[in-house]
Amino acid sequence: MDLRPIGVFDSGLGGLTCVKRLRELMPGEDIIYLGDTGRVPYGGKSRETILTYARQDIAFLRRHDIKAVVAACGTVSTNGIEEIAGDYPIPVCGVADAAAAAAVRRTRNGRIGLIGTKASIRSTAYDEKILALMPQARIVKRACPLFVPIVEDGRIGDGDPVLELVAREYLEELKKADVDTLILGCTHYPLIAGTIGRIMGPQVALVDSGAEIAALVKGRLEREDALAERRKGTCSYFVTDSAEDFAQTASLFLGVPVEGSVKRVTLGEAV
Ligand code: DGL
Repeated sequence: MDLRPIGVFDSGLGGLTCVKRLRELMPGEDIIYLGDTGRVPYGGKSRETILTYARQDIAFLRRHDIKAVVAACGTVSTNGIEEIAGDYPIPVCGVADAAAAAAVRRTRNGRIGLIGTKASIRSTAYDEKILALMPQARIVKRACPLFVPIVEDGRIGDGDPVLELVAREYLEELKKADVDTLILGCTHYPLIAGTIGRIMGPQVALVDSGAEIAALVKGRLEREDALAERRKGTCSYFVTDSAEDFAQTASLFLGVPVEGSVKRVTLGEAV
C-alpha cells in the first residue's frame, strides 16, 4: 500500500473530468490537481512550449511527494509526454495510450474518428498508437479549437445554440467518413459528450480518455501494490489564475461541489 497522493495536471479545468473518473474508481486515493489556468489553452501552442509547461507542471506536483503523475491533458499527452516521462522516478501517464487502445477494442468497421485541440491533431501520436494495434485502421481527425472556450464558458447544455452550430460544423466530415468510434481526444470534451453523441448518432461509440486513463492507472497501482486502501481520500486543487473563478466552474466538471481547498500558485522552473 502507498498512501502518497496521485498528481494530476491539465492546462485548465478539463483534467477535472479525469479526476472525476479517478475518484469514482479509486475513492481512497488522495489527489493533488494542478490546473494551469493562467496559461490555458495549451492547444494552440508549439510542441516545445507545451513540453516546457508540462515539465513545470510536473515539477510543481512533485513537491507534494506524489506516487504517480497523470497528464490529464490530451494536448500534453500527444506532444511528447513519453519523451520526458523517463526523466522522473515515478510513473508519468498520458491519456492517449489508454484511449487509443479503447478505440481499437470498440471499433467494428476500423474507422476511428479523433477530435482534439490543434496541437493534438497536428501530432501523429494517436495515429501511431492506433496503427500499432490495428494496422488496417482508418483514422479521421478534426481539430475543434472552439470547443475548449465554449466549455470553459459553461455553454455545455445539450441544445445550446452556439455549441450546436459549432459542433455540427466540426463533426460533419467525421459523420461523412462513417466512423463508428470517436475519441474525445481533449479532456474538456466529456462535458459536451451529450451533444457530440447526439450529432454523431447512436451507432458511434464515444471514447472518454479520462475514463480510460483512470482504469489504466488503477491497474498499474494494483500491480505495484500501491493502491491507497482507505475509505475516502482527499483532493487539493492548485491553479495559476483566480482560485474563485476556478471553484465556481470546477463543480460542473467534477459533477459534485468542490470539497478540497483551492489555492493559487506560481509555477517555478522545471526540475
Ligand atoms: N484539456 C486540454 C486537452 O485535453 C485542452 C485545453 C487546452 O487547449 O489547453 O487537450
